[in-house]
Amino acid sequence: MKKFWEIEGTKREDITPEFLFNHRRKFIQGGTLFGMASLLPQWAMAAPKFPAKLNEKYKGEKDLALTKEDLATSYNNFYEFSLDKAEVKKKVESWNLTETWSVNVGGLIEKPKSHSVADLCDLAGGVEERIYRFRCVEGWSMVVPWTGFSLSKLIEKLAPKATAKYVRFETFGDKKIGTNISNQPQYPWPYVEGLTMAEAMHPLTLVAVGMYGKPLPRQNGAPIRMIVPWKYGFKSIKSLVKIDFVDQQPKTLWNQLAPNEYGFYANVNPKVDHPRWSQASERILDGGFFPKKKPTLMFNGYEKEVAEIYKGLDLAKNY
Ligand code: MTE
Repeated sequence: MKKFWEIEGTKREDITPEFLFNHRRKFIQGGTLFGMASLLPQWAMAAPKFPAKLNEKYKGEKDLALTKEDLATSYNNFYEFSLDKAEVKKKVESWNLTETWSVNVGGLIEKPKSHSVADLCDLAGGVEERIYRFRCVEGWSMVVPWTGFSLSKLIEKLAPKATAKYVRFETFGDKKIGTNISNQPQYPWPYVEGLTMAEAMHPLTLVAVGMYGKPLPRQNGAPIRMIVPWKYGFKSIKSLVKIDFVDQQPKTLWNQLAPNEYGFYANVNPKVDHPRWSQASERILDGGFFPKKKPTLMFNGYEKEVAEIYKGLDLAKNY
């Protein structure tokens, strides 16, 4: 039976012309096909080949209204660049992201190796589009069409050892790229996140390389990031440089900074408040001064899919 995220959804009007992706190789070979190459972000050449019929394969939940692309790409949490959401987009401009980006995959696996983004997509058997709810611990939410692959598909290929209990993810810590890193010496940089193996193997856990049918913009975590839709947004670490299979619970940035506010699990849970605010409802990111509110759903609406993972765990305590 098809999972809900495999259901064909409504088509999006604002989807990027397919040729941006399908003709990637032509761009590389021919330089300025249609004179468009200069409009692409510099690193887009490094983006993996998207599925040939992306528009037809638009998957997700039909009833979810997408957040406007310009909002989702201009209201960002990316502390390496700025603590001000509206500033991030401007601050990433000096980041000269090139196609030489690589992700070091290691720890408890047979063959630790450095992979290009395209390699990882190929290893996982290609990418697809998924529409997910995204709920930030701060109380705002959006709905985004991501492009990527299930981390589980990659893990199956990497065959971690039986002693691997967690996956640890790391972002770049280069102060020359993240121009705000030096301004926040109290943070335990680099940004690190983690998942249990069961969470990492859940098919909803996505490694994203694109959004709105385009390569990830720098402010949203280019060129490759995690998306864990049933957890608060801070678990969805951006701009991955390292993935390690480990036997200890990784020390994550937010958990180290404020363990009573940002738990390791951080599952979206309307019944467990943040010590400083309620998590019962959320503001729908719509650009308005008085955003609409809606009740927050257990596991951000993915309870049916993921509750099994947490059987026997007191979620109120393991926040
Ligand atoms: N990853 C890194 N490396 N640095 C960050 O500051 N912020 C997190 C998460 N991943 C963050 C990060 C938080 S708090 C949220 S809500 C989401 O990214 C925001 O993702 P978006 O800007 O794409 O909406």
